[in-house]
Amino acid sequence: MARARRRSCEGGPPITGDEVRRAIGRRDAARRKGLEVAEVEEPMVTTCRVLLISGSLRSSSTNTAVLRTAQANAPQGIAAALYEGLAGLPHFNPDDDTEPLPSAVADLRASIHAADALVFSVPEYAGAMPGSFKNLLDWLIGDDQPGSIAGKPVAWINASPRGAINAHDSLRKVLDYASATIVESASTEVPVTGTMIGADGLIADPTTRQRIAGTLTTLASDYEDRNSTEATGVW
Ligand SMILES: Cc1cc2nc3c(=O)[nH]c(=O)nc-3n(C[C@H](O)[C@H](O)[C@H](O)COP(=O)(O)O)c2cc1C
Repeated sequence: MARARRRSCEGGPPITGDEVRRAIGRRDAARRKGLEVAEVEEPMVTTCRVLLISGSLRSSSTNTAVLRTAQANAPQGIAAALYEGLAGLPHFNPDDDTEPLPSAVADLRASIHAADALVFSVPEYAGAMPGSFKNLLDWLIGDDQPGSIAGKPVAWINASPRGAINAHDSLRKVLDYASATIVESASTEVPVTGTMIGADGLIADPTTRQRIAGTLTTLASDYEDRNSTEATGVW
């Protein structure tokens, strides 16, 4: 019996909506016949969903520009979404970490659950990560639902020309505390200054774009490797 051909997160032709619907139809028909999905000879549709989270609220933020550029240059097979709710999160209070959650927190957690992997880009303020971003991370710690940050592959792009070592040391510490899976090979330094950001809010320099996209490729590849025994993944 021919094995299903997996479509890698890191390559292959673009996935169309029709293709997804056809794949779902074939998968469901196979299941109705009692066949293992992995035994159906057809291209499988696997897309790696990456949520991009900036630690800066600044409108001309270099970190947000990095992630916007990542989204705009996401390689085929990777669907990247930019989280835009940081400013709307309430101050973390354990008393409020109970159902019903504040709606902004419920939205944040839903976005995390829907993602296969996360990419952070975080500045340093006064020797630490920004308080607003730490507040976001605090809201993730108590999430005990499937798809939470615990065990989720994460990486960061350090955009600071000054290193921002303290911010990234504390980011690592918190991500460890959250039991996230830090993908070291995908985490990188891509120094960006304000002058590199164009009027479209994106970074134009091709080398920088390539390095930013490389984080997504490596993260998706890692995700693919971790899930290589599962021959399904239509979403
Ligand atoms: C109040 C303040 C404190 C800062 N403290 C640090 C710091 O401790 N270390 C550092 O490397 N950069 C520091 N910076 C520089 C910022 O990290 C830098 O401006 C960065 O580009 C901000 O990120 P963004 O462009 O994404 O908004 C500080 C900036 C401000 C406004």
